[in-house]
Amino acid sequence: MINSKDKQRIEELRSVLHGHNYRYYIHHDPVISDVDFDMLMRELLELEKKYPQFSDPSSPSVRVGGQVTKEFKTVRHTYPMLSLDNAYSLEELHEFDKRVKKILGSGTGIEYVCELKYDGVAVSLHYVNGILEYGLTRGDGTEGDDITVNLRTIKSIPIRLRGSDYPADFIIRGEVFYPLKEFHRMNREREDAGEPLLANPRNAAAGTLKLLDSSMVAKRPLSCYLYSLHCDTPPYRGHDENMSAAKSWGFNIAPYTRLCRGLEEVSGFIEEYREKRKKLDFIIDGIVIKVNSPDQQRKLGSTAKAPRWAIAYKYKAERVSTSLLSVSYQVGRTGAITPVANLKPVQLAGTTVKRASLHNADQIEKIGLHEGDIVFVEKGGEIIPKITGVDLKARNGGAKKIMYINTCPECNTALVREDGDAIHYCPNVWGCPPQLKGKIEHFSGRKTMNIESLGYETVEQFFNAGLLKSPADIYELPDRTYEILKLERWAQKSVENLIEGIEKSKEIPYEKVLFALGIRHVGETIAKKIALRFHSIEKLMDATPEQLLQVDEIGEEIANSITRFFNERKNLELVERLKKCGIRFEISEDKLAGFTGKLSDKTFVISGVFVKHSREQLKEMIERNGGKISSSVSAKTDFLLAGENMGPAKKEKAKKLGLKVISEDEFLNIIA
Ligand code: IVH
Repeated sequence: MINSKDKQRIEELRSVLHGHNYRYYIHHDPVISDVDFDMLMRELLELEKKYPQFSDPSSPSVRVGGQVTKEFKTVRHTYPMLSLDNAYSLEELHEFDKRVKKILGSGTGIEYVCELKYDGVAVSLHYVNGILEYGLTRGDGTEGDDITVNLRTIKSIPIRLRGSDYPADFIIRGEVFYPLKEFHRMNREREDAGEPLLANPRNAAAGTLKLLDSSMVAKRPLSCYLYSLHCDTPPYRGHDENMSAAKSWGFNIAPYTRLCRGLEEVSGFIEEYREKRKKLDFIIDGIVIKVNSPDQQRKLGSTAKAPRWAIAYKYKAERVSTSLLSVSYQVGRTGAITPVANLKPVQLAGTTVKRASLHNADQIEKIGLHEGDIVFVEKGGEIIPKITGVDLKARNGGAKKIMYINTCPECNTALVREDGDAIHYCPNVWGCPPQLKGKIEHFSGRKTMNIESLGYETVEQFFNAGLLKSPADIYELPDRTYEILKLERWAQKSVENLIEGIEKSKEIPYEKVLFALGIRHVGETIAKKIALRFHSIEKLMDATPEQLLQVDEIGEEIANSITRFFNERKNLELVERLKKCGIRFEISEDKLAGFTGKLSDKTFVISGVFVKHSREQLKEMIERNGGKISSSVSAKTDFLLAGENMGPAKKEKAKKLGLKVISEDEFLNIIA
């Protein structure tokens, strides 16, 4: 029985709680106590539990999390997420300004907006009719992970917008970060609990956003500043005005921005924040300078990597000196060697630094590192601190030069370094312990065969016990339970779970199996593309380099790597053994359903809101039928798939270019 008063109360509580959230997190001006807020939230949660039929993804109760995800879906960005070019001096800013003026054909001062460059995790939020529909990580700039459930728990990200003057369909981007005070508090707690410390706030934010249990994310005090609006027709003629409008819709727009006329004012802002930034409760690594007018931005356009209408001024990183204790060498899953400097612990930009990556042999040579050197350590935006130089005056006369190793520190095999490659590799792919362990771990991982019981420690344990030497050995584990039970931490129940996980992995689809094989350069996305083009492992093995190169996003390097992989006898043996165990080496009927190739070589732009399918589903249909997606209309576009509320600018442009504008139904007819 539905009590109509309860229904009304649910609506009322949702609206009241959204309002309190907004006051608290956007205006920092709460009007009720935390306890009262919790009471209201609890009342709402109880009512929502009683009436599951009224559940709503835009209810403020989603803030407490609870949804556990198996893995994040990869979703293509509507507009690619580009990077920014950097400037390290005023001269470089002058050059930027000159370039901008030249392209715009303007001799007068350009209006720039200065913003802080937050050192967090970039996210892209998609709102449809005022509701947060989904949120993505940057990923590779073209595709990101759908982390909507986690983003909804971040209180400064609105789930439902205020007012009504926002575009029907838009994307807003910003940076999620871990406030410094909270970060230090967490690390103190971890230290007390004897847990390893988190390297820096950016890692803490990135790690949190990747958690699969959103209620854990809800417990972390992440915050988010938004800084760019993307839609067909932005409501205002200035980036600053659009940001102010976004603020009125409920977004957290940083107050640390300024509209500047010309470079002099820009440089004033930069100087002002050179010191002020140290007092902020988050890390910034520079200032972003943007051309304010979206029209001018459009005119300036972008390179493949970065927009021409913006630049990041980077402050010189903080630098300290400390002594080099030793250099150690790590061996990765692919055999790549990473040299690491072990340092006398030193405080730098709020964290204790004990190690620094040395990247490769050339880097060590370039620094001219000697044993016992006093080194300069810097931490800029990057996650791992860098050694940037040596204090030559402090060097001991007899100090020996650091010589890069010739043999693998783990298996003694002579290292190889290919022409044009900066990295040394251990070629003992099938005998070097960390490589074997890495391969097995990658194979059983969450994004690959997803055998939960076979995590890092178990792989290590089984490897040491001689139970695992190759990913294929995993499938022999069910016959070796007697030996497993003799190992520490293993009992009947845990062995049963392990076997169940192994059995289940036989259902993992072909594209993930391909990724699991660990072919160098074949990541999750490429594996999917390969699977759609070559429907079985046999077809892939038979593929010529030319055929491989025809697959979207496969270039020489990837094609060579695939060919090389299947030329190795050991790899063929691995595939054979896995096949015998029942691992899927063919694409499923499901994936192939609707795969017609009808749209091959056709490029689509999708715009507006659709009735029967989500944008993501439409994109998938296009790709599955061999078509390509582009984010903007150009002469290369074949079809504009137009939904409701499509921006007039896009329509106009499409008309001018004489493109076919088709509706959702027309599209469905084409691929039917
Ligand atoms: S605008 C096309 N504004 O810096 C890129 N980015 O190094 C336009 N970032 O990927 C981005 N603060 O994640 C913009 N105020 C700000 C920013 C900002 C931090 C990040 C962003 C971007 C990266 C580039």
